[in-house]
Amino acid sequence: MVVGMTDSSYTAETRLVAGGRPAHEDLAPVNPPIAMSSTFRQMGPSDLNTYARFSNQSWDGLEEVVADLEGAELPGLVFASGMAAVAAVQDLLPVGSIILLPEHTYMASVSMAQRLEARGIARVVRLDIENTESVLAELEKAAVDAGVTPENINYAAPKVLLWMESPTNPMMEVADLPTILAATRRLGIVSAVDNTFATPLGQQPLALGADVVVHSATKAIAGHSDVLLGLAVTSNPVLRDAMRAHRTTNGAIAGPFEAWLGLRGIRTLALRLERSAASALELARRLQEHPAVELVRYPGLPTDPGFERARAQMSTFGSVLSVTLKADAVQTDRVVGALKLWTPATSLGGVESLIERRRRHTSEPASVPESMLRMSVGIENVDDLYADLVQALSLLEV
Ligand SMILES: Cc1ncc(COP(=O)(O)O)c(C=O)c1O
Repeated sequence: MVVGMTDSSYTAETRLVAGGRPAHEDLAPVNPPIAMSSTFRQMGPSDLNTYARFSNQSWDGLEEVVADLEGAELPGLVFASGMAAVAAVQDLLPVGSIILLPEHTYMASVSMAQRLEARGIARVVRLDIENTESVLAELEKAAVDAGVTPENINYAAPKVLLWMESPTNPMMEVADLPTILAATRRLGIVSAVDNTFATPLGQQPLALGADVVVHSATKAIAGHSDVLLGLAVTSNPVLRDAMRAHRTTNGAIAGPFEAWLGLRGIRTLALRLERSAASALELARRLQEHPAVELVRYPGLPTDPGFERARAQMSTFGSVLSVTLKADAVQTDRVVGALKLWTPATSLGGVESLIERRRRHTSEPASVPESMLRMSVGIENVDDLYADLVQALSLLEV
């Protein structure tokens, strides 16, 4: 049995270690056991806990810890992947609805919205999230078009959904979340924030006004690039019931072992993030001075356009930065191929540093420069990471 963390006076970095564990009783295991069972013994009327697609005690610890870190009043919901969590929100949209997403957003989240549009369910509106005035204008227009108000809002079937990323993937733009989320509340718009880049320690969108937070827990939460997992967290019971019903019915559930790995991973999130974020800032500073580099985007860089906003709404700036080289696509690929320590691979948030030229994905928009590299900084020594970048960048004649 997993017991709740009752002492909220502890800091988040203590609670993520102490939460979601069995009761302090003699001979109790220190970690929650994994229940490898598809069904559970039960007589009499069925309830929600009789079958492993409905509920599984191996999910409880992770759901409890992430909800606690995000400041939610209800347990989180774990999913088979980040995209399964995204689907549990986007699939709530009814026919005739509107979904607003940043111009730069994780590609599959955009594809999912576009598939809703192709099936005549939702209209997609794209946003320049650095321009708060234009975002507010689009929100107001959507609220009028769909006829939503705070009085007629339906959390189980939102007629207008704002889908946010901040920082955005892969451009690292930062939105003024408090202002934008306050507007959604005023207008009767449901808001979801994908908090994967920031992590629950770096930013708490529910406190900033969001209705629901989703994570690709595949990334920093699990932290070791060895599992796919997703999470959705809300304090709204109607929204939570709707997402849970989606999970139960559609079946994109996390395996017990995967959920256990996610809980094991999150125990070290504070330590990993501290190292990765410090190294990301140091690399951003050094690369900004490198002659082969055109532009560095990292919200923790005091010269970054998102710095003041990030400082106001984030407690750490995360492990991801984007670096645009003075090079074309072929030269950039050559630099990536010359790296010995960094691994050229998609994904982020693991202990090992990964690097990727994002435009190799044809679905990335043309506004993402061909020579832009998304870098996920791991926990290796920062001087080793920088030395590897310098030797690879020496291929460019500048
Ligand atoms: C910001 C963001 N959201 C969602 C996802 C999807 O997560 P998953 O790959 O776990 O399905 C990703 C994956 O890269 C991501 O970067």
